Amino acid sequence: MKLFFLSLTFCSIGFYATAQRTIDQRVDSVLKLMTLDEKIGQMNQYNDDWNATGPVTLDSTKRQQLRNGQLGSLLNCVGTRRTRVWQEVAMQSRLKIPLLFGQDVIHGYKTTFPIPLAEAASWDLEAIELSARIAATEASSAGVHWTFAPMVDIARDPRWGRVMEGAGEDPYLGSKIAFARVKGFQGNGLGNTNAVMACAKHFAAYGAAIGGRDYNSVDMSERMLWEVYLPPFKAAVDAGAATFMNAFNDLNGVPATGNRYLQRDILKGKWKFNGFVVSDWGSIGEMIQHGNVKNEYEAALSAVTAGSDMDMESRCYRNNLAQGVKDKKVPVRLIDDAVRRILRKKFELGLFDDPFRFCDAQREQAALNNPAHTAAARQVAAKSIVLLKNEKNLLPLSKNTKTIAFIGPLVKPKKQNKGFWDVEVPGVDSNFIVSQWEGLQNKVGNTATLLYAKGCDIEGDDRSGFAEAIEVAKKSDVVILSIGERRDMSGEAKSRSNINIPGVQEDLLKELLATGKPVVVLINAGRPLVFDYTAEHAPAILYTWWLGSEAGNAIADVLFGDYNPSAKLPISFPRSVGQVPIYYSHFNTGRPAGNDDDKNYRSAYNDLSIYPQYEFGYGLSYTTFQYSNLELSKRKMRIHEKIEVSVTIRNTGAYDGEDVVQLYLRDKVGSVVRPVQELKDFAKVKLKAGESKTLRFVIDKEKLSFYNQPLQWVAEPGDFELMIGASARDIRLRDRFELVQ
Ligand code: GLC
Repeated sequence: MKLFFLSLTFCSIGFYATAQRTIDQRVDSVLKLMTLDEKIGQMNQYNDDWNATGPVTLDSTKRQQLRNGQLGSLLNCVGTRRTRVWQEVAMQSRLKIPLLFGQDVIHGYKTTFPIPLAEAASWDLEAIELSARIAATEASSAGVHWTFAPMVDIARDPRWGRVMEGAGEDPYLGSKIAFARVKGFQGNGLGNTNAVMACAKHFAAYGAAIGGRDYNSVDMSERMLWEVYLPPFKAAVDAGAATFMNAFNDLNGVPATGNRYLQRDILKGKWKFNGFVVSDWGSIGEMIQHGNVKNEYEAALSAVTAGSDMDMESRCYRNNLAQGVKDKKVPVRLIDDAVRRILRKKFELGLFDDPFRFCDAQREQAALNNPAHTAAARQVAAKSIVLLKNEKNLLPLSKNTKTIAFIGPLVKPKKQNKGFWDVEVPGVDSNFIVSQWEGLQNKVGNTATLLYAKGCDIEGDDRSGFAEAIEVAKKSDVVILSIGERRDMSGEAKSRSNINIPGVQEDLLKELLATGKPVVVLINAGRPLVFDYTAEHAPAILYTWWLGSEAGNAIADVLFGDYNPSAKLPISFPRSVGQVPIYYSHFNTGRPAGNDDDKNYRSAYNDLSIYPQYEFGYGLSYTTFQYSNLELSKRKMRIHEKIEVSVTIRNTGAYDGEDVVQLYLRDKVGSVVRPVQELKDFAKVKLKAGESKTLRFVIDKEKLSFYNQPLQWVAEPGDFELMIGASARDIRLRDRFELVQ
C-alpha cells in the first residue's frame, strides 16, 4: 500500500516541482525514500553499448539494473533519440531518479575545435571559453548533461600522449585556461539547457607519469604538487566546476582513486568542493593491480572512504558496498554524502523537474547546424596555429601565386584533422570536415593551379611516391608540405619513446628542398615533435597541431595572410627526446649553464644545446612588435602593497597583428630555491600596423608567493627580477624591485 501511495505521489507533478524548497531539502526528501541498494545505484556508472573509451565489461543487464534503481549514470551515450530511450527506462524505476549522461566532449561535440593543447597556444582566454561554450551548446542539445573536461593536468613530457588534451607546462597559463574552460562549459549555470557540468580531471598529477608512460606512477614532493600540479584544479574549483574525475596513477605510493589526502583533505576539505568525484574508467578496481588493496571489496571500501563518489565501470561499488555497510566497514553517512552530491547535481540540472529537458530533437538539429559555430571553429583554429619560422618572409603567400604544389600524407584526409578525443555523433559522417586540400581550393582554387601529390605515408619507409612529388614540385611556384603524425598517435595510451616526425616524411622534405622551390612546412601533431632537420632547413614552418573541423580553411587563412598568426607555444619543444623533461621554469642549480659554450662542470648535456628547439611562449608573426617604456610605480613594495607595471608595445611591421606580452618574475633568493622564471601575467593585444598601446599589470603579494619548506604559502622579503618577454627566452625588457618587510 505504502509503495502505491508513494508511486502515486511521485507521479503527481507537484512533488518535484516545488521549486521553493531548497535543492538540499529536495535532495534529502529523495534520500529519505531510498533503499541502500538504490543509493549505491546512484554511485554506479556504466558505459553505453554504443562505443567505448576503455576496456569494456560485457553486461546485458544494464537496463534491468536501471529499472531496479541500481544505475545512476551512463557515459558514451549521445543523441536525443538514444538518451531519451534510456531515460524512459529510468522513469520505470521505483523512484524515477533521472539518469545522468556523461561524454568526453574535450574539444567540441559535432563542430570540432583545435585539440586543447593547440587552443592553449592561442593564449586567447575568450576564444577558449567560446570554444567550450559552443561545445556545451551542441552537446547539451544532444542529451549530454556532463562533459569529462577540462583536462587540466600540467604536462612537461611530450612522450606522454595525453599532453594533447591539456594546456601545457605552466601552472599560471594552465590555471587561466582551466577557469575559462569550466566557465565555457557551464555557461550561465547548471539548469540552463545549453550548459553541461564540467569535470576537472585527472585529480591529480596524472601528467607527471614517470617516463611519460601513460598510467605510470607519479612521485613528487608535496611542494611540487602544490606549486605546479594543483593550481589548475584549484582554478577549476574557483570557476565552479560541478565535478572532478580522479586519476589512474598512484601519487607518492597511493592510487589517486583511493587517495583521501587528495579527495577529502584537499578537494572536499580545504577547497570546500561541493560537487562530486567520479572515478576514472575502472580505476577503483585497478587498485588491486596497483597492489594497494587485496580485492574488489577492499577497493570499494578504500575508494568510498577516500572520497570517490561515483564508480565508472569497475562495478566494485555495485558488488561490494552493501556488504561493506553490513560489515560496518562503511558508515552509511559516507554513502549518503556521495549520493547527496550526485542528486544535488541532478536537481541543479533540472532533471527532476523534467528528465527529458535535454532531449529536444529540434534544438539538437538547430545546434548541430549553426553556421556561427563553424565560423567560431575557423577563428579559434587560426588563432591556434604557431608560426615557428618564416625566412625572408616567405609567408604569407600571395593570392596571385600561379601554381601551388600541395604535397604530403595529411593534405587530403578529413578526419585526421579532428585529432584525438573527437565525438562520434550519431548520423554525422566526416564529410563536413574541411580538409587542408579543400581549404586551399576554397582560398585560391579559382585563381591558382593547384597540384597534389601524397609523396609518402605517415609511417613506413616507402619512398616510391617521392618521384611524383618531386615532379609536381618542379611545376610549381611554391610547395606546401603537410606532414606529421597520425591523429591517433597522441592521446590516451599513446605514449611514445620516439617523438621524431615518423616515417620518411623529412626525407621527402629534403628531396623537395633540393628542387630549389620554396617550401612551407605544416606540422600536424598532438604533441611537441622532434624535427631538427625541418627546423634547420625549411624556410617556413607552421605548427598546425590538429585544428578540428575547419582546419583547411584556418590553415589557408594563415597561409595567405587573412589571419596573421599570433599563437605562442604553451609547452617547450625539445631538440631531442633525450632532452626531456625540459621546461622554462626550472631551478638554477649550483652550476647553471649560462649558454651553449659554458658546459664544463655545468648542468648541461655535453652533446646538445642547453636550449629547447622552441621555448615556452615562442611564436612568430607576419609583423614585428617592439616593447618599450617599462615603468614600475615603485621599486620597494611592502607585503600588502602593489606595484603597477606599465609597458608600451608597438606594431613596427606592415601587418596588423596580435602579440602575447608575457610578464615573468624571478625571486632571486628564497628559503627554498625558486625558478629562474615564472609566468605571472600576460596580455594578448591586437595592434594595427604602426599602432602602439600601453599595457598595465599589477604585482601583488599573491604573485610573489610560493610554498616554503613547511608548505606555507608565503612571500619572502628580498629582490625580484621582472622580465617582459615575447617568449620565456626572448626577454625584451627587465627591471628589479624589492619586497620589504
Ligand atoms: C578514459 C580517460 C578519461 C575519460 C574516461 C571516459 O579512460 O582516462 O579521461 O574521461 O575514460 O571516457
